[in-house]
Amino acid sequence: MFESITLNGRTIAPALFLAPMAGITNSAFRRLLSDYGGYGALTTEMLSASAFLHENTAQSAFSRRRDCEGPVIYQLRTSGEEDLEAAFAKLEGQHPAAIDLNLGCPAPEIQKLASGAALFRDFQRLEQVLKRIRTFYRGTLTVKCRLGDDPERWREPFLERLRLFEDSDVHAITVHPRFSGEKLKRRARWQEFPWIASRTKIPIIGNGDIRSLRNIEDNPDYFSPLAGLMLGRIVAQKPWIFPEFAGYAPPEINHAEVWERLYHYTLEDLPPERAIGRMKEFTAYFSKNFFFGHELFRKCQSARNISEMRESAMRFFESKPVLAKAGHEFH
Ligand SMILES: Cc1cc2nc3c(=O)[nH]c(=O)nc-3n(C[C@H](O)[C@H](O)[C@H](O)COP(=O)(O)O)c2cc1C
Repeated sequence: MFESITLNGRTIAPALFLAPMAGITNSAFRRLLSDYGGYGALTTEMLSASAFLHENTAQSAFSRRRDCEGPVIYQLRTSGEEDLEAAFAKLEGQHPAAIDLNLGCPAPEIQKLASGAALFRDFQRLEQVLKRIRTFYRGTLTVKCRLGDDPERWREPFLERLRLFEDSDVHAITVHPRFSGEKLKRRARWQEFPWIASRTKIPIIGNGDIRSLRNIEDNPDYFSPLAGLMLGRIVAQKPWIFPEFAGYAPPEINHAEVWERLYHYTLEDLPPERAIGRMKEFTAYFSKNFFFGHELFRKCQSARNISEMRESAMRFFESKPVLAKAGHEFH
């Protein structure tokens, strides 16, 4: 399953994707993943269409891309007010595997900007934005969304949007099956994947709470109608996880070495005062690998500078911390 997916004539193999995660999927993190391989494409953090226009793509830790990363999807968040023509033209210079529109982010500050879930909700504006994009961009376009707002009445609006995506020549849809008001603690509704996939010819990439191959094997009815999988938090916790999903033998893992490698990669891309925030965000997920991971988390969060953070982390790893049991490590 999920051996490959074809997007606009380009085959991506395997059909396994890194989810966009603000604060995590920056260039250093993507570089770390490329050391392990096993994915089909990585995704940037969501990029503000207007901020991206001011970025130096050779240097920005958001949009910079190294050859080792392989296919990279660039995710944009937009309200449609920005100079999308210029943003897309600049993005095309990055040779993206696809440009993805964020239609799912429920964060109030993003919705206030009429982006993310707010753009998904506003059908007319969504239609205008997609139509406009298709007047100047014929390349690979994907979207990522949730189910909608209302658990009682979401199917009809969802179908309306599926038709719009088909009319707009969208090449794949990543569905994170939660409602916009639901936090990540509530379980993703994998049971909705078959219904969604049966209603459109567009390939559906499933996302949300997927942590192991067991999830897929134990739920063939939910996952077999999908064209691909997208993994988020589990990759922040276990950056070496893709090979396992791709069916290769898992690599030998030295947790200290993984943490330290990302530390160095992050410092290559960002000054120490910005790298520290990135390492804190990453460590919040990475610490879930350990039974007493909150110790690592707490020490790193309270570090006053990045070398203090490294010292605390190394001291934790040298204490030979007990690993958390599989399945107890999330949220
Ligand atoms: C820290 C964090 C940042 C996220 N940032 C984005 C983002 O920039 N764009 C987006 O579409 N989704 C974002 N998401 C949602 C994820 O892409 C994904 O849909 C969600 O985490 C569920 O998948 P998972 O259970 O595999 O993590 C973010 C999630 C997290 C935890």
